[in-house]
Amino acid sequence: MTPPLRKAVIPAAGLGTRFLPASKAIPKEMIPVVDKPAIQYVVEEAVAAGLSEVCLVTAHGKEAMEEHFSRSPQLEAALEKKGDRARLAAVQHASGLASMSYVFQDEPQGLGHAVGCAEKWVAGEPFAVLLGDDFLDERDYVLDAMCTLQQRTGGSVVLLLEVPARLIRMYGSVDPTPVSVDDLPGEGEIREGLEVYSLARLNEKPEPGEEYSNLAVIGRYVFNPALFEVLRNTPPGRGGEIQLTDAINTLAQMPPQQGGGVYGIVFRGRRYDTGDKLEYLKAVVQIGADREDLGQEFSLWLREFVDSRSGS
Ligand code: G1P
Repeated sequence: MTPPLRKAVIPAAGLGTRFLPASKAIPKEMIPVVDKPAIQYVVEEAVAAGLSEVCLVTAHGKEAMEEHFSRSPQLEAALEKKGDRARLAAVQHASGLASMSYVFQDEPQGLGHAVGCAEKWVAGEPFAVLLGDDFLDERDYVLDAMCTLQQRTGGSVVLLLEVPARLIRMYGSVDPTPVSVDDLPGEGEIREGLEVYSLARLNEKPEPGEEYSNLAVIGRYVFNPALFEVLRNTPPGRGGEIQLTDAINTLAQMPPQQGGGVYGIVFRGRRYDTGDKLEYLKAVVQIGADREDLGQEFSLWLREFVDSRSGS
């Protein structure tokens, strides 16, 4: 039996220019979605899939993330003194979530380079990568199924989203062949109803007409550690950066004995994108409306607000 996966890498070294000026002095990953920073939702998603060791690839000046996931004795003592148990629990939850590590990416050389910075920490085990810009609704988590598929096949697994053709240029595009779960190599129960594809090729942010399909790679990956050697030999691609998609394209064409083979699972659930202002606003509204403590009142207000606007 292969030991279960335990490690997740979360690249979070970007400048966050789309959220300036908010991201000038705080990392964009720390911008709250209701009352939790976006990055915490991502770490919670990793932990829910059994990945209790989490490495953030970060950059200097973004130390607030480290503080967020560390104990805060003074704050805890103050809340304890006030008898504010709920907030104390919320504060302790963030620091007790996972075993957190941090590696620094000194220069912004692309997503592939950022993941490569975690090579030593990963230490040759299969591992997951979660991009910090989006997160999935906990009712629709799929990372555990991706881990099972990685363990069963020994290859790598990416999450796919069907996007309108005009939007594929913003993503990695894949060349998919549907596979029946019964025909997959290896053993291990795969969750029922999943749409699984074997991927022959991928390209990053294709020009119109160059896309392989309108299935886009979204920010969840589970890798065979062979990725690292491939990354070291991957030349700069789109935008002059070392692209993770280019390395996955190489893995897709490598034999399984060398850690090759790439599969995709199609995601059809709820997903929140906090990397973009409009999508961020939608995420706050959706999550706020679903919250047990705020949802009812907020939804009522929202309805009135929308009605008052539609009349004007
Ligand atoms: C990155 C990846 C791209 C992927 C996307 C998902 O691009 O390079 O392949 O489709 O994330 O969000 P970015 O959005 O960082 O430009």
